[in-house]
Amino acid sequence: MEIAPGAFHFRRYLSLDAQRALIDQCRALADGAVPAYVPVVRGGGKMHVRMLCLGRHWNGKTYAYEPTRTDFDGLPAPPLPDDLKRLAGEIAASAGMTIAADLCILNYYDADGRMGLHQDKDEGERSIAAGIPVVSISIGDTARFLFGGLRRKDPVDAIALESGDAFVFGGPARLRYHGVTRIVPGTAPPDLHLTGRFNLTFRQYDLFR
Ligand code: SIN
Ligand code: MN
Repeated sequence: MEIAPGAFHFRRYLSLDAQRALIDQCRALADGAVPAYVPVVRGGGKMHVRMLCLGRHWNGKTYAYEPTRTDFDGLPAPPLPDDLKRLAGEIAASAGMTIAADLCILNYYDADGRMGLHQDKDEGERSIAAGIPVVSISIGDTARFLFGGLRRKDPVDAIALESGDAFVFGGPARLRYHGVTRIVPGTAPPDLHLTGRFNLTFRQYDLFR
C-alpha cells in the first residue's frame, strides 16, 4: 500500500519459507569471511546495529561509499548476490519502480538495536535525482520505524515493520527522513528461530543513463 507519494509498505511480502532462506543467507554473510561489525561514526559514537555492506562499503566516518572497509579492517565489501539483487528488483517493480541494485546494507538489530532519524543521501547524485528507490526488507522481530518528511523537523509516522515486510521509498519520497526507534523483542514468528531483526536495504549507486 502507498503510504505517501513514492513510499510503499508491503506487509508480509515474503513467505515464511522465503524468510527462512533469507535468514540462513544473512547469517552466513554476517558471520562469513568479511563479517558484520559495529560501525563507529563521525562523532566517535558506536552505531546500535551490526552492519555488513554488500557490493560497496559505506564508510561511517566519511559517509562515502568505497570498495574496501578503510574505516574498519581494510577488507573488501563482499559482492551483492544475484538472487538478492533480483529480489530487490521484483519488490521495486511491485511499487511501479525500477532498481538495478548495486549495493545492499545488511543490518542486524538486537533487542537494543536502533537507528537515529536520517536521510539516505550517500548514493550517487544522479541515482538520487532520478528517484531510484531504496528497497528495504525486514525479517525477525518487529521494528518501530519512523517515516518523516524531507526536513528533519517534519512530522513522522510510526510504522510497524514486521517480519517479511518490504518497504520502498523512491521518486518524491527518496530523501525522506527515517529511522528505527526500537525493536519489539519476541515478536519474530517462532518458526524462524531468530532473536532480533535483520534488515536489508538495497540501493543503486550508479546510474548509466
Ligand atoms: C536504514 O535506514 O538504513 C535501515 C532502516 C531499517 O532498519 O528499517
Ligand atoms: Mn536509511
